[in-house]
Amino acid sequence: MKNLVVFASGSGSNFQSIIDAISDGDLNARITGLVSNKENAFAVNKAAIANIDVRILNENNFDSENEYASELLIQLKEWNADVLILAGYLKKIPLQIIQYFEGRILNIHPSLLPKFGGKGFYGMNVHKAVIENKETVSGCTVHIVTEEYDEGPVIAQAKVGVSVSDTAESLAKKVLKEEHKLYPKAIQQYLKTLK
Ligand code: GRF
Repeated sequence: MKNLVVFASGSGSNFQSIIDAISDGDLNARITGLVSNKENAFAVNKAAIANIDVRILNENNFDSENEYASELLIQLKEWNADVLILAGYLKKIPLQIIQYFEGRILNIHPSLLPKFGGKGFYGMNVHKAVIENKETVSGCTVHIVTEEYDEGPVIAQAKVGVSVSDTAESLAKKVLKEEHKLYPKAIQQYLKTLK
């Protein structure tokens, strides 16, 4: 069974959906730790409730990115991480970590990549741009993380219709609901491809 380490900065609803999929037997994996940059993130409470180890790491508290990356790597090795799962993690993953875990870092993004991805496209900005662009379809994407922001190979997508009455907020809710179904399923499929 593979060990997942989840990275989350926010409410952690995707993190929760992964915890639930594991306990429902839909995802064959274990979560050995949560990394967050914020100690008051809701994701951190969720980890405590699920009895999952948490490490708060903030690059700003280190003298250099190198020192931060080294500390992070020590923690990930301690947790025997096989795969890193980014679930609303708002900080950059250091290059050293991306290279060490090459092909073994997944992210979920709230749009149909390559549309509405890249710098500046995070959180509500994504949904606002989708509405402003008068798109009729949006959705979410699970992809492998590479050195280029939001550009790694796509492994799964789910679509949602955008109606004329949708606002960025209502669209965000619809997309998030799909994310909760898509991410655990995509992780399960992805794990089957690993040795
Ligand atoms: C999700 O919309 C995800 O696509 C994006 O960040 C958000 C995280 O939400 N990467 P949550 O913390 O899982 O509720």
